[in-house]
Amino acid sequence: MSRRIDIVEVGPRDGLQNDPSDLTTSQKLEFIERLTACGVRRMESGSFVSPKAVPKMADSAEVFRGLDRTKPVRHIALALNEKGVRRAIDAAADEINFVLVAGEGFGRRNQGMTPQESAEKLMECAPLVHEAGIPLSATISVAFGDPYDGDIADGVVGGLAAQAQRAGVAEVGIGDTIGVADPWLVERRIEEVRMYAPDVYLRVHFHDTRNTGLANVAAAVKAGVDVVDASCGGIGGCPFAPAATGNVATEDVVYMLERAGFETGLDLSKLIETANWLEGVLGHPIASSLTRAGQFPV
Ligand code: COA
Ligand code: ZN
Repeated sequence: MSRRIDIVEVGPRDGLQNDPSDLTTSQKLEFIERLTACGVRRMESGSFVSPKAVPKMADSAEVFRGLDRTKPVRHIALALNEKGVRRAIDAAADEINFVLVAGEGFGRRNQGMTPQESAEKLMECAPLVHEAGIPLSATISVAFGDPYDGDIADGVVGGLAAQAQRAGVAEVGIGDTIGVADPWLVERRIEEVRMYAPDVYLRVHFHDTRNTGLANVAAAVKAGVDVVDASCGGIGGCPFAPAATGNVATEDVVYMLERAGFETGLDLSKLIETANWLEGVLGHPIASSLTRAGQFPV
């Protein structure tokens, strides 16, 4: 097990979008700088959505303006519609991550779209991103369960991935927005997406709401996936998912993978330091295990 696993840090976006704290733009930029110093090379640094829907991301344009572009980091902007894509292009995002949705109940509340409408929106938006010469990825949210509609039928996630492939999306993330996946379902969804969309690169996105997050990461890596989303400190959650909690914590994922012999390129001591700093700035405890228990071997 010496494979390289790339971690996409989503703390500055998925992490902060639902946190009770209100970080200033300069605190967000300090967070991003600290993550960069940990070795993060790909990061969701903001989202270009309606500021009424997600007030915590209202300053994403300022965040992108303030980024240190001399550092070798790919800053990803999240977008869900044409206005968001145009704003992300104007902000000189290095990559745009579009959100597809696998469930109707969540889709209507989160973005006013059914799954099919989200795919049609992607078809409309993709040419703008391609024309701008920016890499386009997509994340399929609630791919393992919808908080309002329950289980997602087999084939739905695969069908969305196939549409993403047709839209020229290079990488598809399978997202467990509300933390209801289990390792065996993770394997099945990965197989499904590979069958329906053989040309897309796979990424996984897990929330640790029901304590299955790390097991799900392990299942995905065992199934051959080598891009994993995680958030420093395990902060975060979606404002449109009841009882949502954070992503798997970056330092916990890095610990597990590196202990098993994988390479992430991230500095675990610095990640723990950054998560501790973050806890102070947020002013409330964070979910991370490594900040509590420390590294092993010491
Ligand atoms: N950026 C900023 N403002 C936007 C926007 C964007 N990308 N898209 C729409 N708006 C504004 C419109 O200009 C309009 O403003 P107004 O009321 O001042 O005229 C308002 O939002 C409504 O626009 P509309 O096109 O009717 O959108 P909607 O009300 O159907 O909402 C979304 C659709 C996608 C904009 C909205 O649901 C949203 O932003 N959701 C965010 C979900 C999210 O980020 N979830 C977490 C990550 S998955
Ligand atoms: Zn998420």
